[in-house]
Amino acid sequence: MIKIKKKSIIITGCAGFVGSNLLDELLKKGNKIIGIDNLSTGQIRFLTKALKNKNFKFIKMDLLNLSKLKKIFKNASFVYHLAANADIRFGLNHPKKDLEQNAICTFNVLEAMRFNSVKKIVFTSTAPIYGDNKTFPTPENASLSNQTSLYGASKLYCEGLIQSYCEGYNFQSWIYRFVSILGNRYTHGHVYDFYKQLIFNNKKKLYILGDGKQKKSYLNVKDCISAILISTKKSKEKVNTFNLGCDGYINVKKSAEIISKKLNLNPKFLFSGGKTGWIGDQPFVYLSTNKIKKLGWKNKISIENSVKNTVDWLNNNKWVFKKSK
Ligand SMILES: NC(=O)c1ccc[n+]([C@@H]2O[C@H](COP(=O)([O-])OP(=O)(O)OC[C@H]3O[C@@H](n4cnc5c(N)ncnc54)[C@H](O)[C@@H]3O)[C@@H](O)[C@H]2O)c1
Repeated sequence: MIKIKKKSIIITGCAGFVGSNLLDELLKKGNKIIGIDNLSTGQIRFLTKALKNKNFKFIKMDLLNLSKLKKIFKNASFVYHLAANADIRFGLNHPKKDLEQNAICTFNVLEAMRFNSVKKIVFTSTAPIYGDNKTFPTPENASLSNQTSLYGASKLYCEGLIQSYCEGYNFQSWIYRFVSILGNRYTHGHVYDFYKQLIFNNKKKLYILGDGKQKKSYLNVKDCISAILISTKKSKEKVNTFNLGCDGYINVKKSAEIISKKLNLNPKFLFSGGKTGWIGDQPFVYLSTNKIKKLGWKNKISIENSVKNTVDWLNNNKWVFKKSK
């Protein structure tokens, strides 16, 4: 009898915030998984549980190494491509980073797939691809005309590249445009920054970028993963593009109040001023999730509870501020 080897799912960025949460969920379901990460921002501690599972193999490598990638993808069936430079704010300090870590790495992933006839890919895109769009809540078919960040522009390029591989090489893709994600294993973003200031620097003052009136929608990582799992199962177009966000939004000042209260602090808020926190920031981010809701998904965790959960997680995991691997 011929023994058929079970094919593996690949997760790139498996040691990152979202990737490690996805990894644990997919392992729970009994999948065989190869995780790839160069640990540039990922944490080996996020893999503690997964590394004990015989169905998981971790490969520390950089996606820029295409020849190695082609060998690893040999027995793959499905790719979740999450690895990226996920930092939007400091993009202008190193303009090549988004090109390399997002555009070229995504090209390499697609090429390694094509080389091995692996045709199904999940890609994590982002709300900033809507640029300075003015339609709220923003639907998936909104204009993508004016890009405002190198990060958004690189993700938009990746989406186009993936769509072209779907058309040209008969791939199938699930593309998710996230708002900012909160929750367990959160390592970057405004809650992290505010927490760090208040706990490690000065409990009496909190510096806030912008005028604090920026309105943002946030999604808990648990809801984010459940949306991906439901829609990859139910949506079977050639290119499946979904916004992932929460019903509603809060402004940055309100979020700062929730965080301060949770920490039993009453700091003076010092605003840098202006409608946006940095160049490329959007004063309002609120995505329509009507499309994914039609598949039976709905976020279960409110924005306020997500902010509180994130503070709890940071309280219990202060080691992340040391960036130890
Ligand atoms: N977290 C959010 O709020 C958010 C919002 C929108 C989109 N996204 C997207 O979701 C995905 C995951 O984001 P995250 O928040 O988990 O970020 P993260 O930084 O925690 O995870 C990214 C992972 O990719 C790895 N990585 C980066 N470059 C690599 C390379 N060249 N080779 C191998 N590994 C590499 C990092 O070490 C890290 O573990 C990213 O694609 C990001 O752009 C995230």
